[in-house]
Amino acid sequence: MKLKQTTTPTKIELQAMATIAKTAYPFPRYRWNLRDYEKRVDGTNIFILARKGNGILGEAVVNPKHSKHAAFLEDIQVRKDAQGKGIGKALLHAAERATKKARKKYLQLDTFQRNRRAIAFYTLQGFNITGLMETDTRVSEAGLRIIMQKEL
Ligand SMILES: CC(C)(COP(=O)(O)OP(=O)(O)OC[C@H]1O[C@@H](n2cnc3c(N)ncnc32)[C@H](O)[C@@H]1OP(=O)(O)O)[C@@H](O)C(=O)NCCC(=O)NCCS
Repeated sequence: MKLKQTTTPTKIELQAMATIAKTAYPFPRYRWNLRDYEKRVDGTNIFILARKGNGILGEAVVNPKHSKHAAFLEDIQVRKDAQGKGIGKALLHAAERATKKARKKYLQLDTFQRNRRAIAFYTLQGFNITGLMETDTRVSEAGLRIIMQKEL
């Protein structure tokens, strides 16, 4: 598995990311589609791709200019059949390296309260819960949004 980092993913890479989200992301209503990935291509957001051969096993999207002191993890997904093998961890570590390179002290993210797997994963990797946010539909089927942060 190799990691690739780019601010200009190809159309094929964007399509692969949307395909991963379709199988991996647990809440259909909040799942990103191709358009959502395309919208993030703005010359600033960093796309980190976990590649094996011609395939993409996982991806992360980081906004290094989220705020004065923090970058933001916009998205992280690993293909369902590739989960539990350390790929998510490798992507998250690459996102942390990109945050440091951008001279930001914190990496922040949000996740849904009912995404227990993701919350356990982030907690294991040293993130702390710093806040709660209602969703657009107040408390959705996915629960509240949990804000998490790691100091780097
Ligand atoms: C959350 C996600 C990115 C984690 O990626 P992953 O490749 O499966 O995770 P890893 O294999 O790197 O595992 C990292 C740690 O979690 C642990 N873990 C693995 N599978 C687990 C499971 N089913 N339940 C709890 N912990 C688990 C591992 O033991 C590992 O711990 P370690 O650091 O002590 O070895 C992945 O599960 C995913 O894509 N989920 C669906 C999309 C999603 O919800 N994204 C988050 C949006 S906020």
